[in-house]
Amino acid sequence: MKWELTHRAGEIKILNPVLLERYDCGGNDDDMTLIGRLITYFVGYVLPYVAIVVFLCGALWRIWTWARSAVPLRIPTTPAPDTVPGVIGRMASEVLIFRSLFKGDRLLWLGGIAFHICLLSVLLRHLRYFLYPVPWFIVCWGDIAPYFAYFLPVPLLFLLIRRLTNERLLYISGWADWLPLLLLLSIVASGLAMNYYARVDLLAVKDYILSLMVLKPVPPPASAMFLTHFSLVMLLLIYLPFSKIMHLAGIFFSPTRNQRNNWRQVFVNPWDAQPRSVRQGGEVK
Ligand code: HEM
Repeated sequence: MKWELTHRAGEIKILNPVLLERYDCGGNDDDMTLIGRLITYFVGYVLPYVAIVVFLCGALWRIWTWARSAVPLRIPTTPAPDTVPGVIGRMASEVLIFRSLFKGDRLLWLGGIAFHICLLSVLLRHLRYFLYPVPWFIVCWGDIAPYFAYFLPVPLLFLLIRRLTNERLLYISGWADWLPLLLLLSIVASGLAMNYYARVDLLAVKDYILSLMVLKPVPPPASAMFLTHFSLVMLLLIYLPFSKIMHLAGIFFSPTRNQRNNWRQVFVNPWDAQPRSVRQGGEVK
């Protein structure tokens, strides 16, 4: 499927679903070597679908495993709330403002929160490639978002340098710690490179993403930087369910956070045939 596109004040809009020859999404095929064509074919048509399937199956599998895990003990980190609204409030403060981290390490909290806010802003702005019509708040956010994007490497580099310079942290760091950071840094670097000097036809990008979404992919924009950025994002998507980035979902299953402080309450084991009075020395009739 081809779309006619227009680019106005940071917003990308589709006018009519008709072919617009002005935007040659695929570049000049004749100039490409066989290897180049194979790579473009793989990155453009195969990788995105493999990535989305691995991501969805992997993430659902992880969530399913957590949901099925037995939690036989009451182990909330105290002081813990007694009520369900209290637990929801506590969880919200963990997810939105990283409350425990704030108490534990202020500098890491600052780096962490700066990173997550900037990332959220960048991802919000990227929605313009996936949505039509582009919601007004994403169009408005587009004016402010670049500042967050330029700042994004700062907290990422802070997290990397912190790991490299703290001896104890370096000692316990493994690939599971380095890989997400390096992947994110490369994605951000290639994204910013497209912003500055390796400009890419954003209309062709939107054309390509929308065509992927309707399962009728058109050739990806013929830009090495875009293909690099896109492949790295797809690799991140594949790696995500098996990485520590899954803390995004895992926190909701953490018994130390999602339990009420009701450990004095008596829970009757449904498999236990004997009533409690009997177990405590009562007579069996
Ligand atoms: C399928 C997913 C993605 C596509 C198609 C995509 C595409 C693009 C494009 C075309 C640009 C250049 C924008 C411009 O020149 O104005 C860009 C920039 C950028 N991308 Fe992505 N990207 C994707 C996912 C991501 C992800 C997951 C991240 C972060 C982890 C990311 C981080 C960035 C950054 C930091 C920039 C530079 C600032 C900006 O324009 O917002 N991208 N991306």
